[in-house]
Amino acid sequence: MNFLPEVFSKNAAMISGELVIGGCKTTSLAREFGTPLFVIDEGDFKFRIKSWKDALANNFGPSAGQVYYASKSFVSVEVAKWIAEAGIGIDVCTGGELAVALAANFPADRIEVHGNNKSEAEIAKAISVGVAKIVIDSMQEIERVNRLAAAAGKVVKVLLRITPGVEAHTHEAISTAHEDVKFGFSIASGAAWKAIAEAEGASNISLEGLHCHIGSQIFENEGFILATTRLIELAAKFHGQFNRELAELDLGGGYGIAYVAGDKTFDPDKVMSALAELVRSECEKHKLQVPKISIEPGRAIAGPTTTTLYEVGTTKDVELDGGISRRYIAVDGGMSDNIRPALYEAEYCAILANRTSSIAPINSRIVGKHCETGDIVIREIGLPADIGPGDLLAIPATGAYGRSMASNYNHMLKPAVIAVADGSARVILRRESEADLLALDVQEAPRTIK
Ligand code: LLP
Repeated sequence: MNFLPEVFSKNAAMISGELVIGGCKTTSLAREFGTPLFVIDEGDFKFRIKSWKDALANNFGPSAGQVYYASKSFVSVEVAKWIAEAGIGIDVCTGGELAVALAANFPADRIEVHGNNKSEAEIAKAISVGVAKIVIDSMQEIERVNRLAAAAGKVVKVLLRITPGVEAHTHEAISTAHEDVKFGFSIASGAAWKAIAEAEGASNISLEGLHCHIGSQIFENEGFILATTRLIELAAKFHGQFNRELAELDLGGGYGIAYVAGDKTFDPDKVMSALAELVRSECEKHKLQVPKISIEPGRAIAGPTTTTLYEVGTTKDVELDGGISRRYIAVDGGMSDNIRPALYEAEYCAILANRTSSIAPINSRIVGKHCETGDIVIREIGLPADIGPGDLLAIPATGAYGRSMASNYNHMLKPAVIAVADGSARVILRRESEADLLALDVQEAPRTIK
């Protein structure tokens, strides 16, 4: 329950018994902007973008491709501007994410478009704005992209998403490169090779390279190593068959971050230096030139930068078997602003943010305010026994897949996101209002549909 610098953002600290982020007291932030509140440490976000950018550039030199920030982890127009200004790319996987990037005037030639079932409208939009690359995920999509590119009078650069058959060690729901998944073209089944031949023969597609993403919140190197090795093997087969080399390999994201005490973190420079060594030796083995290497970190950039502030509303002691009790501490948010514990059994930690307490910790569970037993923020945590209504709890590392997966379940209002830096705070996504919710309700006369 103590303040753990390794799970909080870079500019967070306990000062005079209170959590301060980016020079702003969290009690003042809660008062000014309300709770629940996502507080992004802007300096940390920018630092992390730069760390990944520099790590790729320094370790790959002329073979450095692009760092595409995975916007699904969290994006808003303001965040897209930070990404654009830092000079890296952005990965979007829906028309909505593309719309945010375009609203931020994101340079189209640094936008990469993903998605396993892009609509024709999404593909046409991507082609019309001139995105850097479309990552193709199915045979139908090869035909669609080719046809829509021809209609626009363009030749579109594409990568093929490859499934290298890797069992990544992470929660099954966020593991993406074993055989039985909806993503990509499998190497083992021959689908990858068929797709390569098809794309190579399509007149309005320029096959630039291969892509893979093995999963998310991964720490073990083996998965990354195996996927990279198999992709380079496939690139070598391509060279043998088509007598040209592929220009780019995009190795996706997935780098894990620390959520609770004892979790590891990745140092971008170390990760990229190991990857560069592997890519060089595999390319040498297959007598290939080192292609441009791109990566797509999402969580590793956004995750650690953000802290959620909740206000405690009620507490309740529940007797468990064996005479032990558990204190339920209910906060003013829950599964609508953080679905990860319910969906992936994700673990978080929390601290009392508004004061210090010397009262001994008791076995506690932090829950939300939804009508669900599974609405749990933290399943088990020791928290001071005097925590009660009005106290402020801070949950670190909620920047990735928190606000971006938020819902309106129980007609909850999605929380605001504010950016803090050097003692100032500003709203970058405002809190939803009841008017926002009600704006979708329509009373119309029935229309005959034939
Ligand atoms: N590239 C592609 C093609 C992806 O599908 C993803 C994530 C990423 C990059 C970024 O992965 P990251 O570096 O953030 O791990 N909602 C889940 C995570 C789903 C990830 C989906 N794809 C969670 O909350 O853990």
